[in-house]
Amino acid sequence: MSETARVTVFRFDPTDGKGPTYQTYEVPREGWENLTVLDTIRYIYAHLDGGLSFRESCRTKAICSACMIMLNKKTVLACQTPSRKEMLLEPAPSYPVIKDLVVRFYRGNDE
Ligand code: FES
Repeated sequence: MSETARVTVFRFDPTDGKGPTYQTYEVPREGWENLTVLDTIRYIYAHLDGGLSFRESCRTKAICSACMIMLNKKTVLACQTPSRKEMLLEPAPSYPVIKDLVVRFYRGNDE
């Protein structure tokens, strides 16, 4: 049996008129050396749910902070944090949620 991670993700779309929900995915881990949380999010987006919104920019250099989220109730940079077998992914705290894991980091219009 292949190893998987159980990943629960905060989902929120302000345009659908519903409140926030959580969705759980089973993500394969076998053969993925040095898998990061961002790799896991990318996998979900590419293979399980193309509607998931998240941010990344520099990807692995840790200079942009675009990927900042909450992992199991702690703030992390997803591109710098190893994945785990059980993950709860939520948007960065103290910022307005635009959609899913995407928050508004600054005062301004990022439409
Ligand atoms: S994507 Fe830039 S710090 Fe993670």
